[in-house]
Amino acid sequence: MYCVRNVTEDLYWVGGNDRRLALFENIHPIERGVSYNSYLLLDEKTVLFDTVDWSICRQFLENIKAVLGDRTLDYMVINHMEPDHAACIEEIVLRYPDVKVVCTEKAAMFMHQFGFEISDLIIQVKEGDTMSFGKHNVVFVSAPMIHWPEAMVTYDTTNGVLFSADAFGSFISLDGRLFNDEVNFDRDWIDEARRYYTNIVGKYGPHVQALLKKAGTIDIKMICPLHGPVWRNDFGYILDKYIKWSSYEPEEKGVLIVYGTMYGNTEAAANDLATRLVKKGMTNIAMYDVSKTHMSYLISESFKYSHIVLASVTYNLKIYPPMLDYIMDMKALNLQKRTFAIMENGSWAPQSGKLMRDLIEEMKEMTILDADITVNSSLKEDDADSMDAIADSIIESMK
Ligand code: FEO
Repeated sequence: MYCVRNVTEDLYWVGGNDRRLALFENIHPIERGVSYNSYLLLDEKTVLFDTVDWSICRQFLENIKAVLGDRTLDYMVINHMEPDHAACIEEIVLRYPDVKVVCTEKAAMFMHQFGFEISDLIIQVKEGDTMSFGKHNVVFVSAPMIHWPEAMVTYDTTNGVLFSADAFGSFISLDGRLFNDEVNFDRDWIDEARRYYTNIVGKYGPHVQALLKKAGTIDIKMICPLHGPVWRNDFGYILDKYIKWSSYEPEEKGVLIVYGTMYGNTEAAANDLATRLVKKGMTNIAMYDVSKTHMSYLISESFKYSHIVLASVTYNLKIYPPMLDYIMDMKALNLQKRTFAIMENGSWAPQSGKLMRDLIEEMKEMTILDADITVNSSLKEDDADSMDAIADSIIESMK
């Protein structure tokens, strides 16, 4: 049975949802699922914008068949070649052998690399190229590294619909509600939108900024991303988030405390700091055990908060391995402009503080507060002044 929705009078969402996949890209947990959006335009020509992940191909094909009715498919625009969107290209070609595939040169190369031998069907386009499908005219805008190098977005100049590829996407499957004003995005979606953005596209902030600059020159009436809700109003809300995320500016003044603990003593020190911060008036705090929290959540929170406290036990004379993984992922994703406080623990040769400091210093525009602490096995009353100094230093640096 098909399951589609009208986006406009002649544009249909023909995607689907996967609530069974445990790990997106086989890395990121998606407990609330994910949607793979595809859109079908019925103009004088029929045009499909991107396909979907293989897991929902059957639903997708039923959707297309239902919307097309007796018509055939004339064009398939491929904005992004990652297999969560491009996996069904060959299936579409098998069913609609006269379809023309519109994509960038790099996307055509990726099609070959992924084993789709359809070069005779391809119409290559580049930045600024236009096409008319009847009433609707579109312009193709390159969007390299959002999130792969071949990516482009397609803007319908007739009705202001932007097919934005991965940009403005989010984890979470759609539950019948398709548009941003049908959900409570700020309450139910923003954390997963941030986790999606920061982990998938976070590394490519300058490229996102370049796309936002281009987007600022066009009159957008609707944003159709490849995951998550379609935006048809309140663009300022999501644009503001994208401007902050892509420029690595924190969303909130607040303290993220990430601790790596073996027997609870470093956790106790982290609790002590959190309590001191709250007593001193800083209540915007989030605290996570690095061993129990998937990296993708830590990265998302790191993009959200202005201050990050790293509290790590020393392990084999190094940083506790899960903490090291977290710091290296922050580095890989190019996080910048944060203020750090460092807490180390060690029973005979504490090293993690210096090693964490060295890694953070290698990152761009990071500030590391002077106040720090070496905990010898467990926090003592003698450590109270040092802990107070860290809390004061964090609060002072927020002014
Ligand atoms: Fe949703 Fe980069 O693919």
